[in-house]
Amino acid sequence: MTLQMRVYVPDHPLIKHWLGVARDRDTPSVLFKSAMSELGRWLTYEACRNWLPTEDTVVQTPLGDCPATLIDPTQPMAIVPILRAGLSLFEGAQGLLPLASTYHLGLVRNEETLEASCYLNKLPSELLPQTRVLILEPMLATGGSILSAMQELTQRGADPALIRIISIVAAPPALQKLSQLYASLQIYTATIDEGLNEKGYIVPGLGDAGDRAFGTPA
Ligand code: URA
Repeated sequence: MTLQMRVYVPDHPLIKHWLGVARDRDTPSVLFKSAMSELGRWLTYEACRNWLPTEDTVVQTPLGDCPATLIDPTQPMAIVPILRAGLSLFEGAQGLLPLASTYHLGLVRNEETLEASCYLNKLPSELLPQTRVLILEPMLATGGSILSAMQELTQRGADPALIRIISIVAAPPALQKLSQLYASLQIYTATIDEGLNEKGYIVPGLGDAGDRAFGTPA
């Protein structure tokens, strides 16, 4: 698969560990939820590299002046969890970005057509073009939901080059569609799986991420 867009799969033992826990069908919902939260934290940590705006300053230590680099709190930041499954990554991501605004986006997939439709949109009517946006969408499968989310964001002024997507399992169909439309976008995912089954689920994947995170019977 050749993509113009950059997709990062960090080679990190904690990410591999929590992915293994999340994939295991015998992992109970409560542990699945913590695994997703940990994955949200470590993938957000990776995504922040060369992305968070910083400012150089000088602080006074108890012993004297010292140059320091701090996060610039004046630059707008947003976290967009895609409901439901994106909520499982939220705690980990928000812990690292406590000043970010949160805009929930509720997208549901029609199980027959696999098309996404929006039932909740808390995005503001406009976003400043310098806003850094972190989208939380654990499963990039057919691409329906993530393409709708990207459209909602870019039509409000978000710059794709400042958007980062945190995913846990990504599959080629979604990555190819995103890359064709948004070459400057960057994705951070725990893994890229082979493909989709006839119902649009990622194989081997981890099943229905929303159901597993919230203990919803299939
Ligand atoms: N959504 C999920 O929760 N799992 C998949 O495999 C695909 C979409």
